[in-house]
Amino acid sequence: MSPAGDDFKGGATTGLSHVARPGVDTSHGPILYLEDITVSFDGFRALNALTLTVQTGELRCIIGPNGAGKTTMMDVITGKTRPDSGTVFFGQTIDLTRLTEPQIAHAGIGRKFQKPTVFENHTVVENLELAMKADKRVRASLRARLSPAELTCIGEVLDLIGLGAEGGRVAGTLSHGQKQWLEIGMLLMQEPRLLLLDEPAAGMTDHETARTAELFKALAGEHTLIVVEHDMDFIASIAATVTVLHEGAVLAEGPLDAVKANERVIEVYLGR
Ligand SMILES: Nc1ncnc2c1ncn2[C@@H]1O[C@H](COP(=O)(O)OP(=O)(O)OP(=O)(O)O)[C@@H](O)[C@H]1O
Ligand SMILES: [Mg+2]
Repeated sequence: MSPAGDDFKGGATTGLSHVARPGVDTSHGPILYLEDITVSFDGFRALNALTLTVQTGELRCIIGPNGAGKTTMMDVITGKTRPDSGTVFFGQTIDLTRLTEPQIAHAGIGRKFQKPTVFENHTVVENLELAMKADKRVRASLRARLSPAELTCIGEVLDLIGLGAEGGRVAGTLSHGQKQWLEIGMLLMQEPRLLLLDEPAAGMTDHETARTAELFKALAGEHTLIVVEHDMDFIASIAATVTVLHEGAVLAEGPLDAVKANERVIEVYLGR
């Protein structure tokens, strides 16, 4: 086995810049603004006037105790849950509260749930092919020829997710970590600007976790990543800005060391 991360491509570009979608105006810096978001379930406020800004290209970690509202926040961003009040903007101009879930995905927001959901009986390359946008619109089957641009794109994503040598393997035979990377690759085929990842390192070996940190660092910059995680070593290794949610609002935000030293964070989340 090679040392963690050494065969992920580093640097700011993933080679997918030629497919970056126009239309998200990030000229002022932020790619996502949540302002004063409240979500109530039977009178209980899962999100309570939540306000949060994420800069374009940032790698942001969201932590907080069970029930803090982390998943609900992702549900609001992706249109699965409508807020009772507040605004959600993708860039300067796209009001996400007015879009449907498919429209939000098409606008450039990809989401990965905790459990990997790849097509187990297809090869790694076929999985990426199936995830490609063009596939859904025009290609009826996997037998149709891929264009040179599509082949290049698949090759770049394979290298990026560290599966360059596994393209012909049946996905069902991959390790848990490799399936997670493949699913991230499938999201990348849809050319997202913003990626939401819920506990991506859960169930991974230490080696896989370290490589996932390298992957996220390689993706940040061209992409913006919001990662919900509990694994403090993982968070430390990606050196992200950390936002602590508690009772549906931001309790603390900043570098991990500052957040870990915060008395309120210790009290409600880290413990003494
Ligand atoms: N559809 C729903 N109906 C009723 N209550 C809900 C619903 N979804 C979430 N909640 C409640 O809202 C609160 C926030 O839940 P959420 O899943 O966002 O927390 P979380 O921070 O993701 O927690 P965890 O770390 O356990 O994943 C919880 O008290 C939860 O029980
Ligand atoms: Mg959750």
